[in-house]
Amino acid sequence: MLFPKLQQKLLERAENNSLRKLTVSKGMVDFFSNDYLGLARSKELSEKIGVEYEKQKGNFNGSTGSRLLSGNSEYVLKVEEELAGLFRAEKTLLMNSGYNANISILSAIPQKGDTIIYDELIHASLKEGYRLSFANRFPFKHNDLEDLELKLKKGKGDLFVVAESIYSMDGDTAPLKEMVILCEKYGAHLILDEAHSTGTFGENGNGLACALGIEQKIFARIYTFGKGMGIHGACVAGSKILIDYLVNFARPFIYTTALPVHSIVSVKCAFDYLKEKPELAKNLSEKIVDFRNNLPEKIINEGRYVESNSPIQVIKVSGNTEVKKLAANLQSKKLDIRPILSPTVKEGEERLRICLHVFNTKEEMELLYQSLNEFL
Ligand SMILES: Cc1ncc(COP(=O)(O)O)c(C=O)c1O
Repeated sequence: MLFPKLQQKLLERAENNSLRKLTVSKGMVDFFSNDYLGLARSKELSEKIGVEYEKQKGNFNGSTGSRLLSGNSEYVLKVEEELAGLFRAEKTLLMNSGYNANISILSAIPQKGDTIIYDELIHASLKEGYRLSFANRFPFKHNDLEDLELKLKKGKGDLFVVAESIYSMDGDTAPLKEMVILCEKYGAHLILDEAHSTGTFGENGNGLACALGIEQKIFARIYTFGKGMGIHGACVAGSKILIDYLVNFARPFIYTTALPVHSIVSVKCAFDYLKEKPELAKNLSEKIVDFRNNLPEKIINEGRYVESNSPIQVIKVSGNTEVKKLAANLQSKKLDIRPILSPTVKEGEERLRICLHVFNTKEEMELLYQSLNEFL
């Protein structure tokens, strides 16, 4: 009796025009990947990784176990130390992915009687994390400091505020300085997901909190490497106590095979590479300014543009059918732009998510502007 039930669920998705399918992009212009800095496709970085891997690989392809058993090495500890220097933290802890890092922190730290107060637009992995916690939880309105303060007043036990530097489906930025002040006022602990600002903001890609000089006031920061850094994995940065606690209590860290040495080498090489290439961040910010300057005015006038200084640029198009149609029109021009459907975002808040990259050429940008003008 299970399969008919599952099939019914799939049918409902198809009827809502929200059925997800795995597709492969071929011969299209990339305006949809998170490879903002082009590191995922950098031959130069790939060669550097190859050379370092030859030095470090030893006799193992995989890591052979959990970090607490056979999956640890001097090399991993050294890379964590380097990351701690970069992110200006007492310690960092490598995680297999940002998803794992977020689940680890929220499932392990807030306890029964504590309160998690989260921005309503936080990523699914953070939501998954609080679902695994016994703490109370409620959302505050997106980037709304007044609502956050109201919720802070209602919180009980230890208070945790959860936010992202750059929101993944909106591209906008959290008012971090003000949030830090509010957290200090109510003794709350800020948990900050820097997934989309890792590599793209701050000195040598060390994210928004470091760029603003408020990193020491944040309880836990999560940096992910699968987006701007073009590779895979993540780390948590914070105090020694935070990291020692996660090593002891974070189940998604403890009960999983550690990243293989190739991934660790890639993390080291990608950050070293970025340090040598400050022009990448400069090029990316020029692309962002260019996009904003060339966005058709009617989109702004109709209130469909989400203000963003990040490589994620969003145009709202209400309705799954409508947004899918628009994306198909853009794809017919060989522009790979994907529609973000409900339920990934709220119904009525469907959108085109356009990602800008250092490697997008002037001609590709022109084609994008012309096509947005034509179809929107
Ligand atoms: C804001 C945010 N946090 C965390 C993650 C998960 O990171 P990872 O892809 O490394 O698992 C994502 C990825 O989609 C994200 O957008």
